[in-house]
Amino acid sequence: MTVRHFLTLTDLNSDEFKALLHRAIELKAMQRNGEIYAPLKNKVLAMIFEKSSTRTRVSFEAGMAQFGGHAIFLSPRDTQLGRGEPIEDSSRVLSSMVDCIMVRTFEHEKIELLAEYSSVPVINGLTDDVHPCQLLADMQTYIEHRGDIQGKTVTWVGDGNNMCHSYMHAAKLLDFKLNITCPEGYEPDQAFIDETSQHIEIISDPKKACENSDLIVTDVWASMGQEEEQDLRVKAFKPYQVNSELMSLAKDNALFMHCLPAHRGEEVSANVIDGKQSVAWDEAENRLHAQKALLEFLLVG
Ligand code: CP
Ligand code: NVA
Repeated sequence: MTVRHFLTLTDLNSDEFKALLHRAIELKAMQRNGEIYAPLKNKVLAMIFEKSSTRTRVSFEAGMAQFGGHAIFLSPRDTQLGRGEPIEDSSRVLSSMVDCIMVRTFEHEKIELLAEYSSVPVINGLTDDVHPCQLLADMQTYIEHRGDIQGKTVTWVGDGNNMCHSYMHAAKLLDFKLNITCPEGYEPDQAFIDETSQHIEIISDPKKACENSDLIVTDVWASMGQEEEQDLRVKAFKPYQVNSELMSLAKDNALFMHCLPAHRGEEVSANVIDGKQSVAWDEAENRLHAQKALLEFLLVG
């Protein structure tokens, strides 16, 4: 039997993605109603974190507990992975003991290698290339607030990074238009542009890109691993701050999202992220519900 992994959003087809979002909304209601639902009793999730995390770690760990299972947090500092044990060997061993592996790492090739040697599903909890779990939560949040996203216009403001790449995948799978506005030299990778070209448009002027948008999204200017570029990036990205001026160009009922952690005064002004159009807190909570739907999909079917 071939194992289903979730390394990028495109590991799901459109129908599976939509069904998963629908299920996430149901699981959220069940959780709110205090319903006990434990489909993963006795199941174990190993979570390898080579980068920091608050939301991803807590949502996966809480989700496994709510489902009656267990999660193990593994950091390179205190596992043999950090001392150079090959990924192939670690993957074979871990997958002989647990039911699912979640990984947050740097190079996307690392998670692909780990998945190749794993006998259980591998979930991408963020790589330098993509952050698919976040898009499950973001799309759930949009649907809860505004309904179907098909045919809508979303504007990505800022770095053409892992989050941007996953938004490009979402645009293709859910059939919305994605405007991408970023400083020269910080565009998304060409492979993602080629893959999603029917659904995206790169518009260098942030004002023009936000016009008539239904959703404005941004992320940090320097991602994890790029800390040394911070000063350089602050200069390049200054015109790309999502503030009330940019928001005023979008539709009146436009939403604002940010995967968090946020830097107020850099990529977003405080009055936008803490303002009426921001759904960043629902978005963060939905990591829990959306990933429970993902775990159920991969481990129960
Ligand atoms: N948005 C997100 O993935 O947050 P963490 O880095 O806290 O997991
Ligand atoms: N682009 C950010 C997302 C953090 C959740 C990073 O990779 O650091």
